[in-house]
Amino acid sequence: MTWEAQLSTYISTLYEQKKAGETRAISAAVLEMSRNFSELRRFRKNDYFSEARARSAYWSYFAPRNIGRLSFLLDQLESEGHLDEIPQKPYVVDLGSGPLVGVAAFALRFAQSDARFLAVDQSRQILSEGRAYFSQFFPREKMPVQIVSGNLKGSIKKWGSRTPADLVIVANVLNEFGAPKRSMSARINFVEQVQSFVKPGGYLLLVEPAQRVASQGLSLLRDAWRGGKKMSLKAPCMGLHQCPMGMHKSSWCHTSFNWEQPEYLTTLMGHIGFEPNPVSLSYLLWQKKKRPRFSSGLRLVSQPLKRTSQGAIVLGCNDKNKIIELTHNRLPKLEDGIYRGRCVQKKKNSNLVLGTEN
Ligand SMILES: C[S@@+](CC[C@H](N)C(=O)[O-])C[C@H]1O[C@@H](n2cnc3c(N)ncnc32)[C@H](O)[C@@H]1O
Repeated sequence: MTWEAQLSTYISTLYEQKKAGETRAISAAVLEMSRNFSELRRFRKNDYFSEARARSAYWSYFAPRNIGRLSFLLDQLESEGHLDEIPQKPYVVDLGSGPLVGVAAFALRFAQSDARFLAVDQSRQILSEGRAYFSQFFPREKMPVQIVSGNLKGSIKKWGSRTPADLVIVANVLNEFGAPKRSMSARINFVEQVQSFVKPGGYLLLVEPAQRVASQGLSLLRDAWRGGKKMSLKAPCMGLHQCPMGMHKSSWCHTSFNWEQPEYLTTLMGHIGFEPNPVSLSYLLWQKKKRPRFSSGLRLVSQPLKRTSQGAIVLGCNDKNKIIELTHNRLPKLEDGIYRGRCVQKKKNSNLVLGTEN
């Protein structure tokens, strides 16, 4: 079975087991939660998972979409050669895991290897539910998961891992620390604490929603933190110069994937009034290594845009972190039509080609 097929099975089974009520009731709960996620954060309770309605909405819609997004991102990072130093039996930590979203994405994409996991969240209930569901698919002997409830804004002693981690995933959590500028010192303090238990050669993957404020908050953190003394930036950037898509710019850096998601999700999204595709996210991948080694080439940061006399253009970010314009018809034709987030190389005497060179 391919990892994509396994991903679909995991998500569809999850919906059958977790859905509470009719589609109309689920749609209303998802819409309400979605508004709470995108509107002013002060309207939201800290531990929103204490409410059964919120947990049900998360299980039905947000968790499956986020597991999908993260699996595709891990797949892309792997194919770009950015996760080469993850060992055969890795130790993976998922911080602000909710119902073990990062754990599930990793296990689904790399199911062939055994792994050990630590999942941390402020909600013990969502952690327990997440582990119970995960263990139906991945037996505890093969992929054991330890769960810890703790406040990530508090002291690391309460939630940090004592075992050095090969990969730490922090997905869709930083925006809950508060508005980007106001919470910047809390964010930097947090990533500094996290890097202390990343193994030498190990990775820290920060993921945020592809919305403007959340994405630009990630760019701002990148420029303010720069990996501290020990971490180097691996992706998506081609260099460590200042991000050209920071706060108050009209565009923001994000990556998209075309996912043939399980049918129930498309139906549910139709009821809610959401567009089904593509799935998008913003991310930063850091590695605990002294010497940064960036991929060569350009990272595409847009879909084909306005037509010029030479046709549409696609924006790319180069190794000086400058945005440049590429003629669309010089780019390879992509089956799924998704350019945003992919890398291109300039081969001698030829057009641009897709792929990365490390
Ligand atoms: C939007 S959910 C993301 C869950 C999962 N990582 C995903 O990508 O779907 C944010 C999670 O972060 C947790 N969280 C937010 N702030 C936290 C804090 N200060 N300490 C611990 N967990 C926190 C929430 O309980 C929630 O499970």
